[in-house]
Amino acid sequence: MTTPHTVRIGPATLYLGDAYAIRPTLGFFDADVMDPPYEFNNSGGGAWRKARGASDQIVSEGLTEGFDRFIINPMLCGAVMVFCHNDQLPRLLPYLDGSFHRFALCVWTKPNPAPHRNKNYLPDLEPYLHAWNRGFHPVGEHHDMHRHVSAKSSPSKFYDHPTVKPDDVMVKIMANVNGRTICDPFMGTGSTGVAAIRLGKRFTGIEHNPKHFATAVKRITVAVDRRYPNWRNLAA
Ligand SMILES: C[S@@+](CC[C@H](N)C(=O)[O-])C[C@H]1O[C@@H](n2cnc3c(N)ncnc32)[C@H](O)[C@@H]1O
Repeated sequence: MTTPHTVRIGPATLYLGDAYAIRPTLGFFDADVMDPPYEFNNSGGGAWRKARGASDQIVSEGLTEGFDRFIINPMLCGAVMVFCHNDQLPRLLPYLDGSFHRFALCVWTKPNPAPHRNKNYLPDLEPYLHAWNRGFHPVGEHHDMHRHVSAKSSPSKFYDHPTVKPDDVMVKIMANVNGRTICDPFMGTGSTGVAAIRLGKRFTGIEHNPKHFATAVKRITVAVDRRYPNWRNLAA
């Protein structure tokens, strides 16, 4: 394997490269928090589709092609939080149930779902599964322990990425993660990293698209500057 391009920003380490090659080399993290490519049929939509340019970008960037679930390795993480499409649940749930001690099905509810629905319900729920082994159970204050979070989806024009997870969603999720070391192998624009840094955790992210990697570097640098204003002096 060639050495991946690596950027270190205080408590964050970001790799530009392939998650399947890099993640197994990084060792154990308290939690893998990931939003991998979903596997779903994103065709259709007619006139609605034109109003939502993000749908075409989702397809062109391969974000409907799914992911290899074996990147979730219970020997390399105490817990996993994984977003998925409704249609992936039947395959993902048995894998997590067989690999971890317990799991919970949680949801992000969207007041502004994409309007096309292919003869199904509106996509106003995105499930995420939290599975954990002993010692890594969900944590948080009483009000953090709901299994749902509601937030509008982020417009793709913000970061030219079609599936950016909102800060409110990621901060809620991060508040439930047990432990201090977090890895996101499908980092995108770095939303998991921003939330991890805000909550005082160490973050490692992997992204293979150079444009999105550059966005993640920028966003996480801002987050580290805010949380640790003197980090550059300490790192020197
Ligand atoms: C659903 S998006 C994640 C978006 C992210 N949660 C955010 O808020 O910006 C999945 C990301 O995984 C990246 N990706 C897909 N396959 C990958 C691979 N094999 N290695 C590294 N990154 C990959 C895609 O480029 C995309 O940015």
